Amino acid sequence: MALRTTVITGATSGIGKETALALAKKDHAIYLLVRNTQKGDRLKDEIIAQTNNKNIFVVKCDLADLQSVREAADELKAKLFGVNVLINNAGGIFGEKQMTKDGFEMTFQVNHLGHFLLTMALMPLLEKGQARVINVSSEAHKRGKAEFDDLPWQQKKYSAWKAYGMVKLFNIYFTKALAEKYADKGISSFALHPGVVKTEFWSGIGGFLGKLTTFLVSPFLISAEEGAQTTVYLATEPGMDAKSCQYFVKKKLAKSSILSWNEANRNKLWDISKKLVSKYLV
Ligand SMILES: NC(=O)c1ccc[n+]([C@@H]2O[C@H](COP(=O)([O-])OP(=O)(O)OC[C@H]3O[C@@H](n4cnc5c(N)ncnc54)[C@H](OP(=O)(O)O)[C@@H]3O)[C@@H](O)[C@H]2O)c1
Repeated sequence: MALRTTVITGATSGIGKETALALAKKDHAIYLLVRNTQKGDRLKDEIIAQTNNKNIFVVKCDLADLQSVREAADELKAKLFGVNVLINNAGGIFGEKQMTKDGFEMTFQVNHLGHFLLTMALMPLLEKGQARVINVSSEAHKRGKAEFDDLPWQQKKYSAWKAYGMVKLFNIYFTKALAEKYADKGISSFALHPGVVKTEFWSGIGGFLGKLTTFLVSPFLISAEEGAQTTVYLATEPGMDAKSCQYFVKKKLAKSSILSWNEANRNKLWDISKKLVSKYLV
């Protein structure tokens, strides 16, 4: 089989790291988009040592900085002819409200807006590679509501789980809108829940609530290797085009929330996101 080219965010830890390792074992050429290049270089060496796959590359990309996302996309466009798989995996929950240098709430930018820009900026490569775009969402989307009026959380009281639930719902809106808008260009798009996984994710909640949540969920956590399985499945299983736009759990089609099918909301999110990143798409 011809070498597949995969671009992945958030591979320096947890689910993304195991996903990158598994795909390296399957001979994918892998571009690790990382905010910390020292961590990225260590990961690259580790993957090469474990798999003997030398087609592993590190590209600086901080999703909390739209200029950095744009530069990462430009670097990939200068190096690659096409991309076959884009895995928008990086993400997290933030116990305290934080703003990015672009002026957006951190959960929104890292989990959604940065990936929106990355995907749009890479579109020529994705079209050439007839790519699958895989968005790592979460069952937490089922508690999410789309509150478009106050995305920076200026007016309402910040809640980490509310912000997280909303952006994981946005991951599904983005998946469905992308599948709809780019099917005729050969792009397919999938969302997934990886399971409840033992990773650095839980430390993001912070404070007493973080410790309590981690204590309560810890007996039920699966390993990061298990948590990577659905992403790896979506990246490698042949003949998935007919299932484009769907949501997966444990490598199977799963029901996402009724709200996640709301067409007006997904189109609204698309339009807002496009506007917010417009100066990086010229
Ligand atoms: N763990 C779970 O139970 C669970 C459940 C459902 C969904 N998920 C989703 O799974 C995905 C992976 O999370 P994980 O559990 O593997 O967590 P993790 O171990 O905390 O990994 C998060 C990854 O995202 C990267 N990242 C964070 N902020 C970034 C930024 N500004 N720019 C670029 N990269 C950034 C981190 O980079 P650094 O190494 O530099 O920090 C790390 O590589 C997330 O989208 C999460 O929402 C996780």
